Amino acid sequence: MTETNGLSHSTGSTTVGGAPAPSDRNSLTAGPDGPIMLHDVHFVEQMAHFDRERVPERVVHAKGAGAFGTFEVTNDVSRYTKAALFQPGASTDMLIRFSTVAGEQGSPDTWRDPRGFAVKFYTTEGNYDLVGNNTPIFFIRDAIKFPHFIRSQKRRGGSGLRDNHMQWDFWTLNPESAHQVTYLMGSRGIPKTYRHQNGYGSHTYMWVNASGEKFWVKYHFHSDQGVEGLSGEEAGRIAGADADYHRRDLYDAIERGEYPSWTLKVQVIPYEEGKTYKVNPFDVTKTISHKDYPLIEVGRMTLNKNPENFFAEIEQAAFSPASIVPGIGFSPDKMLLGRTFSYPDTHRHRIGPNYLQLPVNRPRAANVNTYAFDGAMAYEHSGDAPVYAPNTQGRPYSELTGPAEDGWEVDGELVRSAQTVRSEEDTDFYQAGVLVREVFDDAEREEFVKNVAGHLQDGVHGEVLQRAFQYWKNVDAEIGARIEAAYHEAVGQPDPGKEAGVAAATAHS
Ligand code: HEM
Repeated sequence: MTETNGLSHSTGSTTVGGAPAPSDRNSLTAGPDGPIMLHDVHFVEQMAHFDRERVPERVVHAKGAGAFGTFEVTNDVSRYTKAALFQPGASTDMLIRFSTVAGEQGSPDTWRDPRGFAVKFYTTEGNYDLVGNNTPIFFIRDAIKFPHFIRSQKRRGGSGLRDNHMQWDFWTLNPESAHQVTYLMGSRGIPKTYRHQNGYGSHTYMWVNASGEKFWVKYHFHSDQGVEGLSGEEAGRIAGADADYHRRDLYDAIERGEYPSWTLKVQVIPYEEGKTYKVNPFDVTKTISHKDYPLIEVGRMTLNKNPENFFAEIEQAAFSPASIVPGIGFSPDKMLLGRTFSYPDTHRHRIGPNYLQLPVNRPRAANVNTYAFDGAMAYEHSGDAPVYAPNTQGRPYSELTGPAEDGWEVDGELVRSAQTVRSEEDTDFYQAGVLVREVFDDAEREEFVKNVAGHLQDGVHGEVLQRAFQYWKNVDAEIGARIEAAYHEAVGQPDPGKEAGVAAATAHS
């Protein structure tokens, strides 16, 4: 018998139970041309297992690629957080998964879409997941809108086709999307590779130091490879030629020993200042000025190991913003709070209730002492130790009381309401306008106009089209006019909006 890659080879294969398999080439039949016997249990087992080979793909971020690596602290930020992984000298194993959002498992890597940037740190205090994107902002600011937003990006129920009309219908009726849509249609909208993009925690999180002082933080992973994008034409060509372009690039780079790395920096906002800062830091459609809160270096993340089993290590990897560790907390961001429910819930559905027992998901550097018990596919157990708490049989249990150390003050009535707008800079279109006018250069503005006008030409019509023109005029009067002109020039038609006298401002949510 020989051992190769953990597989045993004797005279042949075995059943899943380890007994010699009769044949992997011929099923058991009544005579050479006869029907298959139901008691060909090896055939039945193989077929039944094959029928169950897939787990559901992620409802969003289905197509992705991942790698393992290390996060090393390079700067002392212990005055802001007591989290073990951010203490001086700490080095923590981690896993990252990059992804597109709306496309399915087999969809091209280079379609225009934000990219997921999900990091799992295997810390000594339990697993910490930072589930962010390659953009510092998002399309909406209330979790209740997320299923609607995603459905507008996916396929129509009837035709099974994606539909730009549906996307612009949603975006223009939810003007808080303007900042992220501007980013998406700009030169950073399609990264050249997963290595050439930044990552962001996007939300504001809480950090708590050893003295119990609280801070608000925003995470920025800056690519040490530099940031580069693809033009719409390049991306379209690559999508046809190699749907796995980004997955392949990441895998090949690591195989070559060209280990990609990112420098993690944070913006730190003192706890009290979060209450009055001119822009609501708990609104994920906004960025916070780097002048007001400069970036502070924390450490470097380096990817140096490819998965060996894509299904077990990447497809079944389960990231969740709910996975935090001492020294790190949530914030009043309604999106973030909604996400803390959605991810563990979808993992229980997609992988099973004991998804955290899988090798890729279970803590590697911390002990587990949980009273979560049994359930489908449970194999970790505590023997006859009590499965209830409190108990008098020596099994430890937790019993903190009093204010949560990572909590914040809340008061007021229960309401259903939009967030309070703190200043002009806190309005829906303001930061999108700044991005267009002050961050984009002339060439980027030109490309942006082309991208938006091109996207609108693909099936957007009638009232939605007119609302889209107005949406961009609200972002910036000049850019809106340029988009409208570029659209009409490309389709060779007079401006129907002007003719119909439609100039309604984009509806507010
Ligand atoms: C994946 C929900 C907003 C980043 C997912 C998944 C769900 C989900 C259900 C699939 C998870 C899986 O099957 O493994 C939500 C909800 C949101 C929201 C309800 C808003 C209320 C966001 C935001 C970001 C983000 C704002 C980034 C800042 C990601 C990433 C993944 C993901 C990176 C892929 C994780 C992986 O690689 O496995 N989201 N999401 N999501 N989401 Fe969100």
